[in-house]
Amino acid sequence: MSNWNLESWRTKTALQQPVYPNAEHLVQVEKTLEKMPPLVFAGEARQLKQALSKVAKGESFLLQGGDCAESFAEFHANNIRDTFKVMLQMAVVLTYAGKCPVVKVGRMAGQFAKPRSAGTETINGVELPSYRGDIINGIEFDSSARIPDPERLIKVYNQSASTMNLLRAFAQGGYADLHQVHKWNNDFLQASPAGEKYQGIADKIDDALQFMEACGIGNVSQLHETEFYTSHEALLLPYEQALTRQDSLSGDWYDCSAHMLWIGDRTRQLDGAHVEFLRGVQNPIGVKAGPTMDPEDLLRLCDTLNPKNEAGRLNIIVRMGADKVEEGMPKLIQAIQREGKQVVWSSDPMHGNTVKASSGYKTRHVDHVLREVQQFFQVHKAEGSYAGGVHFEMTGQNVTECVGGAFQVSESDLGDRYHTHCDPRLNADQSLELAFMISETLKKARA
Ligand code: TRP
Ligand code: MN
Repeated sequence: MSNWNLESWRTKTALQQPVYPNAEHLVQVEKTLEKMPPLVFAGEARQLKQALSKVAKGESFLLQGGDCAESFAEFHANNIRDTFKVMLQMAVVLTYAGKCPVVKVGRMAGQFAKPRSAGTETINGVELPSYRGDIINGIEFDSSARIPDPERLIKVYNQSASTMNLLRAFAQGGYADLHQVHKWNNDFLQASPAGEKYQGIADKIDDALQFMEACGIGNVSQLHETEFYTSHEALLLPYEQALTRQDSLSGDWYDCSAHMLWIGDRTRQLDGAHVEFLRGVQNPIGVKAGPTMDPEDLLRLCDTLNPKNEAGRLNIIVRMGADKVEEGMPKLIQAIQREGKQVVWSSDPMHGNTVKASSGYKTRHVDHVLREVQQFFQVHKAEGSYAGGVHFEMTGQNVTECVGGAFQVSESDLGDRYHTHCDPRLNADQSLELAFMISETLKKARA
């Protein structure tokens, strides 16, 4: 890796970074974090890369989802469990109906930093610095809360460590056992068409499991456990650097704050600090691609971030908006195909479809989200490439943040249960409905 070191990003322009009033305090915090145990082990990141290489080859599907932003206020075992549970339900639907192995990645245990379109926010004539996620400052509209505080990095590390611990326990300690497939359905879900449909699949899986047991093959670990990986946007570079370690087995560097890291659409400049930092770590890396992504820039990003053209290293996460995919994506796919680049394509149907409701709430229409995913599949089919995955903002809570779905959340309902710290998330029911739609499309695409 030419000219890369842990600090080489510091010589480049890093967008979206806070300015800490006390720089020395940040240095102290970085030193503390450097001594903390890594949150993931390099070998796990390699395993995920291996799993993603199968997605790149069209043999598997990537399901990535979770909060827009995790927060200190919403930190609770039940919230972690409920998001995990909906991810399992979606994975079961995709695996069963789509007849396709699913790689599960949670935007969890580290997703705390938010890029903002404006540096300040004005309410009733009062202008304050924007909220940038709990790792940086407080969401309260209050001048002291909005001052960036380095201590928050430590709090994020601790919260991420205990979230990760619970996720590992759930994934491997019995909660994710396929024999529990019925118990993942929520009460409020059972009343919805998606919940009912899920019940049908769960019954069939139960049947199959009993049959296998009768045949003497019931007790295999694949049925009792699942692999669950974590990801977040690698935005706040001092935090990411402080958690980066040299693997004692391979000698390679890994960002051990999560298994997978992605670069946002706002910080993907070829000569920028975020690309510089992530090119040197060996984790799987995502790059968000919005409507302004230029095919040549995408190719240069592939060269820089994936010089060995490894399948499984790079995930292009397309987030154009339902109306722009058809126009914007073919040229990206063609460029990648022309140059023989190995990538996993996934669709983030959330970030290009954010609108402001008349009540002032930021929202997204489930119809637009569905349409972007459908367009994504269609364009891939037309171009002869593989639509490898999806990337959602979702929660297991019964929130009213996105409009539509079986419960017909309307704009006037948004205020009922609007809890997000940043962007509107799909609720459990809307997520499951989406999984069914995708499973149908996936089945056809893979046939
Ligand atoms: N181990 C398999 C997998 O992760 C099967 C499995 C076990 C599973 N528990 C699951 C699949 C929960 C989906 C959801 O794919
Ligand atoms: Mn978001």
